Amino acid sequence: MYLKWFSINVLLAAVFGAFAFAPYQYVFVNEAKTWTEAQSYCRQNYTDLVTVNNMKEMKNLNTILKDKTTSSVWIGLNRGNTGRWHWSLGDSDLYHNWAVLEPNNYLGQGEYCVEVYGFAGTWNDDTCNKMYYFMCYDETMTNTQLYVYIQQPKTWRDAQSYCRQYHTDLASVRNQTENQLMLNVTLSSGVSRFWIGLFNDSWQWSDHSNSSFRYWRSDQPNTTTSNENCTAVSMADQGQWLDVNCNTMNPFVCYQNKLVLVNQTLTWWDALRYCRENHRDLVSVHSEEVQLLVTVVAQKASSEYIWLGLHHNCFFSCWFWVTNHTVCFQNWAPGNGTGREDCGVVERAGALESIGGQHWVSLPKNQQLNFICSNY
Ligand SMILES: *[C@@H]1O[C@H](CO)[C@@H](O)[C@H](O)[C@H]1NC(C)=O
Ligand SMILES: *[C@@H]1O[C@H](CO)[C@@H](O)[C@H](O)[C@H]1NC(C)=O
Ligand SMILES: *[C@@H]1O[C@H](CO)[C@@H](O)[C@H](O)[C@H]1NC(C)=O
Ligand SMILES: *[C@@H]1O[C@H](CO)[C@@H](O)[C@H](O)[C@H]1NC(C)=O
Ligand SMILES: *[C@@H]1O[C@H](CO)[C@@H](O)[C@H](O)[C@H]1NC(C)=O
Ligand SMILES: *[C@@H]1O[C@H](CO)[C@@H](O)[C@H](O)[C@H]1NC(C)=O
Ligand SMILES: *[C@@H]1O[C@H](CO)[C@@H](O)[C@H](O)[C@H]1NC(C)=O
Ligand SMILES: *[C@@H]1O[C@H](CO)[C@@H](O)[C@H](O)[C@H]1NC(C)=O
Ligand SMILES: *[C@@H]1O[C@H](CO)[C@@H](O)[C@H](O)[C@H]1NC(C)=O
Ligand SMILES: *[C@@H]1O[C@H](CO)[C@@H](O)[C@H](O)[C@H]1NC(C)=O
Repeated sequence: MYLKWFSINVLLAAVFGAFAFAPYQYVFVNEAKTWTEAQSYCRQNYTDLVTVNNMKEMKNLNTILKDKTTSSVWIGLNRGNTGRWHWSLGDSDLYHNWAVLEPNNYLGQGEYCVEVYGFAGTWNDDTCNKMYYFMCYDETMTNTQLYVYIQQPKTWRDAQSYCRQYHTDLASVRNQTENQLMLNVTLSSGVSRFWIGLFNDSWQWSDHSNSSFRYWRSDQPNTTTSNENCTAVSMADQGQWLDVNCNTMNPFVCYQNKLVLVNQTLTWWDALRYCRENHRDLVSVHSEEVQLLVTVVAQKASSEYIWLGLHHNCFFSCWFWVTNHTVCFQNWAPGNGTGREDCGVVERAGALESIGGQHWVSLPKNQQLNFICSNY
């Protein structure tokens, strides 16, 4: 289980990082709609209202919006009922080191941010507008110096802005070793407490993804129990976010996954028809980048193999992609695809292994498998 989780994250890192090859595309829709109407529009015509996962994606979004003449644009974040803990940097919320009887949201006064007690290293929830020193996280530094201690008192939100401007973000702490590493940075200063990147909120994304990334203008969200339950990018504020009444009419940004795993089991011909009716086509894996994306999407399959848009032509004795490209990039499993194919009763098509090496195998087209459609 851990290994699987690990490899997916490494793959995602490769997909997002090394290849600069986003697995989705943004679509700006220049029609004023309420947030709920915008959500329906995106879900019917694309994947969903846009989710923003990090600063890099926020910059991409701003690039798309920069020549638009509107003042506010809906994104997929809206207020839910139950708060939970998030790391500012977006890490999974796995390790905590709360002090005894914490967190307690003392007197119900809204303790939504987290400080570390110097020396003890235990954590406490506190109201976010208090002014404390704070700990930034800097991914450009070496493993033993992830943390930069800033000895200027700031509110949690201003500390977050500072860390994002000069380092990476407010500190994330993923285990006891990192907690100690962070404490060590403060030992000589005798400080009593400092902010880290943990916060509690109930905002959630339309697509149910867990992104903890928030980019509020410093005075936002400014209504706590509220009639302003939806989120808009404010063009006048460099794309920072405002909480807005959901019935306001604004243009919006949808996103669309480039690849979609279809969790039905169909023959190759039916899978091809399904993709052409509901998306663009069965996926053609022209390059290593697409193979990486396909590998990520394939993790959720319920069949052992997954149809690709790859089919064998017995007349030419050759493999083709359904997009009519010849097969240049190859990823066949040993013994598959490269020899003479069985040209008996049923023609053959190419499928991906959903587990293991994610190689391609040659199978008769009447087998029933999950499949991957492309939208581009
Ligand atoms: C999907 O897009 C079409 C045309 O762009 C539009 O007419 C339709 O209303 C949209 N769907 C929803 C649910 O808004
Ligand atoms: C977040 O804060 C809310 C409001 O005080 C509280 O009900 C909720 O339990 C908190 N969430 C966590 C995970 O502590
Ligand atoms: C703590 O977490 C960091 C980052 O995930 C990792 O590199 C390190 O090996 C972990 N240390 C321990 C003792 O788990
Ligand atoms: C913290 O400092 C102590 C004392 O200098 C050292 O023994 C320990 O290894 C340090 N911890 C980490 C995680 O670097
Ligand atoms: C999102 O977080 C919830 C609760 O922490 C967890 O159960 C779920 O698996 C997470 N989903 C994803 C896609 O990471
Ligand atoms: C919240 O901020 C918005 C935008 O600045 C403003 O129009 C609105 O009046 C504020 N609401 C409250 C309750 O302060
Ligand atoms: C906003 O969300 C809160 C929490 O879910 C809810 O209590 C409130 O009724 C919502 N307000 C509106 C106008 O929908
Ligand atoms: C896919 O379908 C199988 C069998 O119908 C089901 O058990 C599984 O939960 C589904 N997976 C997803 C991700 O929908
Ligand atoms: C591929 O080429 C064949 C024969 O030239 C043609 O019938 C078919 O429509 C083409 N398919 C696509 C997706 O362009
Ligand atoms: C094709 O690959 C699969 C999976 O690795 C393997 O089980 C099968 O034997 C291979 N086919 C041939 C003809 O070698």
